[in-house]
Amino acid sequence: MAHEVLFKSLTLGKTELNNRIVMAPLTRLRSIEPGDIPSSLAKTYYAQRASAGLIVTEATQVSAQAKGYAGAPGLHTAEQAASWQEITQAVHDQGGKIAVQLWHTGLVSHASLQPDGKAPISASESALGGRTSLRDENGLPLRAETSPTRAASLEEIKQVVADFAATTVRARDAGFDFIEIHGAHGYLLSQFWAEHTNQRTDEYGGSRENRARLMLEVVDACIAAWDKDHVGIRISPLGSFNNVHMGNNEDDQLYLMGELNKRGLAFLHISEPDWAGGEPFSTQFRQNIRVNYSGKIIAAGAYDAKKAENLISAGLIDAVAFGRAFIANPDLVERIAQDAPLNQMDPATSYGGGVKGYTDYPTLTQTR
Ligand code: PHB
Repeated sequence: MAHEVLFKSLTLGKTELNNRIVMAPLTRLRSIEPGDIPSSLAKTYYAQRASAGLIVTEATQVSAQAKGYAGAPGLHTAEQAASWQEITQAVHDQGGKIAVQLWHTGLVSHASLQPDGKAPISASESALGGRTSLRDENGLPLRAETSPTRAASLEEIKQVVADFAATTVRARDAGFDFIEIHGAHGYLLSQFWAEHTNQRTDEYGGSRENRARLMLEVVDACIAAWDKDHVGIRISPLGSFNNVHMGNNEDDQLYLMGELNKRGLAFLHISEPDWAGGEPFSTQFRQNIRVNYSGKIIAAGAYDAKKAENLISAGLIDAVAFGRAFIANPDLVERIAQDAPLNQMDPATSYGGGVKGYTDYPTLTQTR
């Protein structure tokens, strides 16, 4: 077998994964509207990929206000939870494990997606003019510019924390193995953390302690709602995502990782900037991450199996997440084991639509 290191089991919290190849969270925008409910196709899609050591689902709203893209699912209603329950069951039936990624999109949203048509919330007022996606009259994705935002009130911030906690309970009850808090890529928690998008002068802005406060309050609330063995988080130190600049202050990023380390989470999932055009991490930064974070690390970025194997063997990461490769290769794990060629992803079918580019990528056996 090729790349044997990737096939050693890994325990996150108290849950053992069959291998160290993780399916990264991937926004596919195929949920049913109204209601933001994952479709039955989503069940097929995830079940097809259940040989991953862990699937992390597409980012999923913790409230109606958290929505930023037409077609992204939620997990804040009973109907959404019922559909997710079928998905977790289907993945478990195939011997897989599955985490749901929970997000609030903050400024990466559009007033027309907000329950009351109001401006989306963020840490501060802003108009970054980033990209989001609505639906046209045929239900197809329609690219749109994000709306100007307003600063969240202290009461709204409390509500965000409560929504993450309540959704964590729904996730547990729907059969998920973990929740993953989306603290990355310039969405709400990352907007509070990044100096670029946080001009607050209250206890949620200014110092790094204050900018990290919301993210850490959410972590603590999710742990209180379930427990630390079932809670992970994804962050994206350095680089730029969604027009939000993470900055280049490595010390601040290491401080945040140190705070997360204290919580004893199931895992820390790090999205590296080089998948989105940023500079690769230096070896020194990777080593500093390991010093500041002693728990399990899942890494995602410009990886192939060889790079993942090298960094796992060096003790710098514990598992690797693949995104685009998992979209195009439902049997990616088997292909890595055989060092077999990969199907290439068709970017035209990433977002929205139906079966095409979603559940119809062939496995090796179907190809041969
Ligand atoms: C995207 O749709 O491009 C997207 C969504 C969520 C992320 C990153 C990218 O965290």
